[in-house]
Amino acid sequence: MTPDSSNRPVALITGASAGLGLALAHGLADRGWTLVIDARGAGPLKDAADALADRTDVVPLAGDVTDSEHRADLVEAVNQLGRLDLLVNNASYLGPSPLQALASADLDELRHVYEVDVLAPIALTQALLPALTTATGVLINISSDAAVEAYETWGGYGSAKAALDHATRVLAAEHPTLSVYAVDPGDLRTAMHQAAFPGEDISDRPEPATVIPAFLQLLDSRPASGRYRAAEFAAAVSS
Ligand SMILES: NC(=O)c1ccc[n+]([C@@H]2O[C@H](COP(=O)([O-])OP(=O)(O)OC[C@H]3O[C@@H](n4cnc5c(N)ncnc54)[C@H](OP(=O)(O)O)[C@@H]3O)[C@@H](O)[C@H]2O)c1
Repeated sequence: MTPDSSNRPVALITGASAGLGLALAHGLADRGWTLVIDARGAGPLKDAADALADRTDVVPLAGDVTDSEHRADLVEAVNQLGRLDLLVNNASYLGPSPLQALASADLDELRHVYEVDVLAPIALTQALLPALTTATGVLINISSDAAVEAYETWGGYGSAKAALDHATRVLAAEHPTLSVYAVDPGDLRTAMHQAAFPGEDISDRPEPATVIPAFLQLLDSRPASGRYRAAEFAAAVSS
C-alpha cells in the first residue's frame, strides 16, 4: 500500500476484469480510488489488476458473486481496508445465447439469471451496508434498458434487471443517508452485448470507456437516489 492510501476512497466493483466494470475501475483508479475487484476468471482479473496497479492499490479476488464464501472474502477485503465509499454491483448474467422466449425458457437458466442479477447484488449489499453507511457512501446497481422495455426474448434478463431496479428503489427508501442508484449504461461494445447479438457486427456500439465520465459525474454530483441513464449525463458523456 502507498503511504497515504488510508485516506483514499474505496470502491468495490464486481465483474471488473472486462467491459464496463473494468472501464469504471480505470476511471476510479485515475482519481486515486483504492479498489476491490472481482470476476470468475482469475487470469483476466490478474491482468486487470496489473494494469491498474501503477495508479492505485487494488485487491483482486477471483470468484463468483453467487458464491456466499466469495462474497464473504470480498467483505473481508473491504474490512481490511477499513472503509467502503462505493459498491458497484456490475457483474451480470444475460442467460443463454441466443436469448430464449419466456414461453420456452430453461428454468434452471432463468434461476441462474436471477441468482446473479438479483440475489447476489442484494446479498452483497446486505453485507456491506454497515460499511457504506459509516462512509455515507454510494451504491450503484447496473441496470439495463431491458428492465423497462419489453423486448422479445429478453424476458429473463429484463425482468431480473427490473427486479434489481425495484430493489434499488426500496434500498434507497430504507437508507436515506446513502446515495442509491440504478444506472442504465446504454448499449456497449462488450462480450455480454456480443452474446446478446451472436454473429452480429456490434462495432457501432460505443466502447465502455465512453460512459465513464457519466459515472464520475454521478459520483461528483450525487443527485437524489433513483434510476438514471448514463446518457442523461450528456455533457459528461460527450466531453
Ligand atoms: N454491454 C451492454 O450493452 C450493456 C447494456 C446495458 C447494461 N449492461 C450491464 O452492464 C454490466 C456490465 O456488462 P458488460 O457488458 O460490461 O459485461 P462483460 O463485458 O461481459 O463483463 C462482465 C464482467 O463481469 C464478470 N462476471 C460475469 N459473471 C460474474 C459472476 N457471476 N461473478 C463475478 N464476476 C462475473 C466477467 O468476468 P468473468 O466472466 O471472468 O466472471 C467480466 O469481468 C452488466 O450489469 C450488464 O447487465 C450492459
